[in-house]
Amino acid sequence: MISHLFCTRRDQTTLRAKMSTLKVLGISGSTKSRSTSLSILEFLSRKFKDKIEFKIYNRIGELPHFNPELEEDLPNSVLELRELIEESDGIVFCTPEYVFSLPGSLKNLIEWNVSTVLFSSKPVAMIVAAASGKKAFESLELILTTIESSIPKESKLLIQGAKGKIDKEGNITSQKTIDELTSVVLSLVKTIEDQNRMPTKYSG
Ligand SMILES: Cc1cc2nc3c(=O)[nH]c(=O)nc-3n(C[C@H](O)[C@H](O)[C@H](O)COP(=O)(O)O)c2cc1C
Repeated sequence: MISHLFCTRRDQTTLRAKMSTLKVLGISGSTKSRSTSLSILEFLSRKFKDKIEFKIYNRIGELPHFNPELEEDLPNSVLELRELIEESDGIVFCTPEYVFSLPGSLKNLIEWNVSTVLFSSKPVAMIVAAASGKKAFESLELILTTIESSIPKESKLLIQGAKGKIDKEGNITSQKTIDELTSVVLSLVKTIEDQNRMPTKYSG
């Protein structure tokens, strides 16, 4: 009954995922209160509400500029973010492209986690929703790979001309985009489930 006391954090995540609904955190790379990225994450949250506890992080603008000197006395906003990432079985990034790169705020969010192992082997999906978005896509893929996230091949999606695929109320109007977004998450879920089936050093 108290066996969880002797498990590593990773094992606890595995046990929790086996016993309860999967937890996924959607991180919007936009500082806007209403954005295309947020609409996409809200769509995913609604679409998978029966299978996934899908939280959305839309407070990227509240994070201070990354400063390694603050590691000893972390701001609350950073602690909260790290906790949200840690308690999630998987992450979905959805971001615009700004000036042929990632938005600085999203790079900043990732920098706050580089000194941790929070993204190591963490199943992660990446969606870039922009006019073109190619450079942000390449950059995000490189960064997430560098911090050792586990990104399933089918969980990488570039939505070009994104604004034209969402109406004023934030509904996605392109069936192709809906289908692509659905497979991004289904593939992420499969990766989480496959990881959870992997034997750990504690399993008999
Ligand atoms: C300052 C700024 C720079 C942008 N630069 C690019 C860019 O280089 N490439 C691109 O594909 N889209 C660019 N965009 C468009 C965004 O990626 C995105 O498609 C657009 O802002 C719609 O998303 P939103 O509803 O979240 O604003 C830019 C937008 C802004 C505001």
